[in-house]
Amino acid sequence: MSTGRALITGGAGFIGSHTAVELLRAGYEVRALDSLTPPVHVGDGTWPDWLSEDVERVVGDVRNRDDWAKALRGIDVVIHLAAYQDLLPNFSRFFHVNSVGTALLYELIVAEKLPVRKVVVASTQFVYGEGRYRCPKDGEVFPDGREPQRLSKGLWEPVCPKCGGSIKPLPLLETHANPKNQYSIAKYSQELMAIALGHNYGIPSTALRYSIVQGPYQSFRNAYSGVLRIFTLQMMNGQQPSVFEDGQQLRDYVNVGDAARANRLVLESDEANYQVFNVGGGRGYTVVEIAAIVAEALGVNIEPNVSGEYRVGDTRHSVSDITKLRRLGWQPTRTPRDSVRDYIEWIRRQKLEKDYAAEALAKLREMGALRKAG
Ligand SMILES: NC(=O)c1ccc[n+]([C@@H]2O[C@H](COP(=O)([O-])OP(=O)(O)OC[C@H]3O[C@@H](n4cnc5c(N)ncnc54)[C@H](O)[C@@H]3O)[C@@H](O)[C@H]2O)c1
Repeated sequence: MSTGRALITGGAGFIGSHTAVELLRAGYEVRALDSLTPPVHVGDGTWPDWLSEDVERVVGDVRNRDDWAKALRGIDVVIHLAAYQDLLPNFSRFFHVNSVGTALLYELIVAEKLPVRKVVVASTQFVYGEGRYRCPKDGEVFPDGREPQRLSKGLWEPVCPKCGGSIKPLPLLETHANPKNQYSIAKYSQELMAIALGHNYGIPSTALRYSIVQGPYQSFRNAYSGVLRIFTLQMMNGQQPSVFEDGQQLRDYVNVGDAARANRLVLESDEANYQVFNVGGGRGYTVVEIAAIVAEALGVNIEPNVSGEYRVGDTRHSVSDITKLRRLGWQPTRTPRDSVRDYIEWIRRQKLEKDYAAEALAKLREMGALRKAG
């Protein structure tokens, strides 16, 4: 049975390789387009050995029109995951890969009248910026980030933009966006293109705002990938996990298998056309809680190093509301404990050439992206 021919861009990546399995199981023929470039990949042009052999492979770059044309030949549906994700100040690259890459996809479908019947575009929870809070005096408010002067004094919580009083975080709703860095602005542009250009040219499209995705195959070479990788690598080396701020930041985490199911669900749902959905874990965990889950899964007793360092431009609390996607019949089935266990089992089998965690932190400090309060 074939449900169609699917192209997954970034198909050699973390979410891409799990999505490939999800689509193959459902009967799709799957093609992956990937540039296989560092730091996510080794850089020798080899595909990761965990990518299913049943996936047809095209090496190419989403910034290149001819590569898109080759990859889109005979394709019915597209899951567009390829992206540049980092914290580096090479601003234009975020827009070349993420924004221009997505514009090229739509340009080609229109210009060549390609019979693509659905596009799913990967966005991110980062597009919310500091997000939604409740002030006891002013009700629902959207603080515009946190003041550098407050952060440098270790005052971590954002304050009410109207009265300056204390506020409590609320779940993030798809109706809002306030992207604040090169990555999230570029990602938001992908969403806007998917919905507006898709609508204008009759190309059914959906954008998904993933929360932090966890599970095996997440590149340990990429300085960008988050706490699970850093905490695991540090504790595997007997080091204390580096917890930023006071460790009480709330985040939500979604298992990569659940994210892959969300990709297929919206791919196949007409109700999802021209819509944006959060894909999250459904509840918040503090960073200190995640450090404890990783320590437990590794079987070590190492207290976190809560150093008072903070990442410039980071949000304090980010927990997505997943009601909208639940209404389509999706819900998270796996917890961070499950994801952490599977990730650790996988990473223990990998050949780690160096101390990637120390390298990532040193790079952030050198760039001025990681600073110390006090
Ligand atoms: N992992 C998360 O927690 C998370 C959270 C929110 C959003 N996202 C989004 O989900 C998508 C997939 O993320 P991931 O975690 O699987 O990342 P990943 O880095 O593991 O995979 C991305 C893949 O895209 C490829 N790629 C990068 N630049 C390319 C280019 N110019 N041309 C072709 N291929 C290119 C990479 O080689 C890589 O294999 C991205 O769009 C990302 O922005 C991920």
